Parts: sequence; structure tokens; C-alpha cells
Amino acid sequence: MTSKRQILEKQKAYLWPNHLLYYAEPLPLDHGQGVYVWDVENNKYLDFFGGILTTSVGHNHPKVTARVQAQTAKLIHSSTLYPHENQVDLAEKLAALTPGKLQTSYFTNSGTEADETAVLLATAYTGSGEIIALRYGYSGRSFLSMSLTGHSSWRIGGTHVPGIKHALNPYCYRCPLKMTHPQCDTACAEDVEEVIKTTTSGRVAALLAEPIQGVGGFIVPPPEYFKIVTDIIHRYGGLFICDEVQTGFGRTGDKWFGIEQWGVEPDIMTMAKGIANGFPLANTITTAEIAEGMVGKGLTISTFGGNPVSTAASLATIEVLEEEGSPQHVAKVGHYLRAGLEKLLEKYPVVGDVRGMGLMQGVEMVKDRASKEPATEAVNQLFEETRSRGLLIGKGGLYGNVLRISPPLTVTKDHVDEALEILDLSIAQVQETV
Ligand SMILES: Cc1ncc(COP(=O)(O)O)c(C=O)c1O
Repeated sequence: MTSKRQILEKQKAYLWPNHLLYYAEPLPLDHGQGVYVWDVENNKYLDFFGGILTTSVGHNHPKVTARVQAQTAKLIHSSTLYPHENQVDLAEKLAALTPGKLQTSYFTNSGTEADETAVLLATAYTGSGEIIALRYGYSGRSFLSMSLTGHSSWRIGGTHVPGIKHALNPYCYRCPLKMTHPQCDTACAEDVEEVIKTTTSGRVAALLAEPIQGVGGFIVPPPEYFKIVTDIIHRYGGLFICDEVQTGFGRTGDKWFGIEQWGVEPDIMTMAKGIANGFPLANTITTAEIAEGMVGKGLTISTFGGNPVSTAASLATIEVLEEEGSPQHVAKVGHYLRAGLEKLLEKYPVVGDVRGMGLMQGVEMVKDRASKEPATEAVNQLFEETRSRGLLIGKGGLYGNVLRISPPLTVTKDHVDEALEILDLSIAQVQETV
């Protein structure tokens, strides 16, 4: 077996040096079971980042593994050139789970590709090449998706795809307009119209936005925000592309998709991450009418899109979610987690804000509550503290100062208690050094 030292040495020698790795000494994982993972030295960790919100039913779920094993023995690859039972069954299931008239799917392999496909469709359907995205949004690692992304740190290189403009985001804790909700009248939403009127031709293809900004730091909009911005985008001839890569599959509790929390029906929805519990799969779903916009415009295939094994994993994942990790279960355990995090907010001044929905909870760390100066170093230190106590969490935000807590959706209150205890002990250590 390759030792930890050998893995870290080979990582350095053979993988690009810009790979972003968590922890001062990177953590090579070996195996997982449920909510736990083990490193190569057999140290056990409670995984409260869920593989970046991806292992929606926990590691190695037996039902997913069995379905995948059976499929690999039958057919591993078909491409989008040949219809496959799993692909059409999954498309039918997603048409039933998604809101409104969303009905017809195009499967690809990553959130990046799903967003690319959505933008392509919106431009084909509307005939416009202009897109509105939100500041603090994250869309992926391709040239186009980095151009859609609204964080300088995730936008590599100075050259980007033209025609993309970024409107203000609904970040109430750090309001871009220095106002307070609800007295602000959700003024940030009106910026979408201002951006269209001042920086585009006045006819746009789409607004692309996440119901809760994930990488941005689990930023939850005011309830009326999406109603306002979708009305605006429709008035200017555009579509609403809802990026559910993080918020999908019950993550926000009570509903299958995050946008349903706001009672808004997207024109196009993208999904990935939790869709197949770690297998590479993504989807861009839209209405029958909008999908027609691609017909006659040229050819496109996806070699791995809708792969029989990934779609088998997805069908099994959704079944397990229905049985063990339903949106109702997520809401219940999510409330419990939130209540525990609120106690940490009361207890430690370094915790500036707690926000999120369901099992997508963010903790924004600040040097002091008055200035709200981001406590980026404190978060780095907290990562080492939580790791040493056996807890994995994520981080985000423009300054890397927001903890992202997003365990598998099948997690129980006992797991939450275990995580909260480690967080409490770890934040207590960090608080002393801020
Ligand atoms: C909201 C959102 N969209 C798109 C992506 C890109 O997904 P992927 O990393 O699978 O390409 C991510 C990844 O974190 C994401 O959070």
C-alpha cells in the first residue's frame, strides 16, 4: 500500500501545483462508510462537508454500490448516441421531482458542463449572447464558467468570455448597498434591471443564479428576491437559469430544489454534485418549448453524458433519499443543526453570522462583530483544530472566512451532536487567538 508520505510526494511531483488542497498537511483519504471517512493512517473523520455537498446519501451506501456493481457487469458506456434505460428513467424521475414545466434533460458530467449547456441553450433560444450573473456566484472551472463566476480568486487569468455582466448579490450580512432588510425594500434585486439597462444591449439571454450562493459563503437571499429578479429578466426577454448544483436534491429542507423555497419556477435548471452520490453526472433540465431552441442549430454530443453507471448511481441515490434522507428529514435535522450553531453564535464573538437552510449551514467568522473584518486566519486555524478532533468541514466566502457545513442528507441528530461538540471545542481554541 502507498504510504501517506508517498502519496503527498507523488501529489507534489505529478499533479499541477495549483491544486487547491485543504489543511497545512493535505489529507489523503482511504475509505468511507456513511457519514465517516478514514485517512490512509486509519484516522476516522466525521464528514460534514459531504464531499463538497456531493455524497448526498453518505459514503459507500450499500444500495448505490449494489446498483453500480450490477450495472458495471452489464454495460459501462453508451454515450448520448444510444438511448439507455437508466438515462430515460432518470430523466422521467427528474421531470417529476423538479418544479413547474421543467421536463426535458441533457445529461453531462459536471456542474461546469451543466452551466455551460444552460447558457448555450439560453443563447440559442433567445438569440442573445448577453448573460447576467451575480457577484459572489460560482459556476465552475471552464473558461465560460469562470467568466460567470463573481469572485476574483476563482477567475484565473485576465481574459474572459465577453457579454457577461455581474449584478449585486443579496448578501444581507454585508449588504452591498449598506442597507438593512426589510427597510431596504430589497434594493439589491433592482440592480439586475440597472445592469441590463446600463451595460447590455437591453435584450439579454438569461440571468444565472444559485438559490443560495454556495462557494460565495452560503448566502441566503430575502424571500422576495427571486420573484423580483425573475420578473425583471423575463421583461427583458431573458430566461432564468437556476443553478441547483449545491442546493438540489433536498439539501435546503422540505423541498427537492432550493428555488422552490421562493415559489419561483426556473426556465432552465442545472444540477450535479448530490445527484449521483459522487459519480460524475450533471443535468440541464428545461421545458419542452425551450429545448426546441437547440434544434436545427448544429450538432452536439456528450461522450460520457448520461453514462449508464452514473445514471444507475443516481437512480439509487434518489431512492435512498426518498427512504432515508427526504427533504422533510433534512428540514428536521437541519433545524437541529442550526439551533446548535446559533448557540455557538451566542457564545463566541468570533462567530459573526450563522445562516443557511436545511443541511446547508454557513458560519461567517469575523475578527470583531462591529467591523465584521473577515477572520480568514482564524478559519485556517479552526480547520486544523477540527481535523485533529476528527471533523471535516468546508469553507467559502470571498475571504475564505465562512465555514460551510453540509453533511450527507441522511445524517442523524447524533452525528450533529458529535459535530457540534467538536466545533465548540475547536472554536473555543481559536477564539483565544483572534
Ligand atoms: C453552484 C455551482 N455551480 C457549478 C459548479 C461547478 O461544478 P463542478 O465542480 O462539478 O464542475 C459548482 C461547484 O462547486 C457550484 O457550486
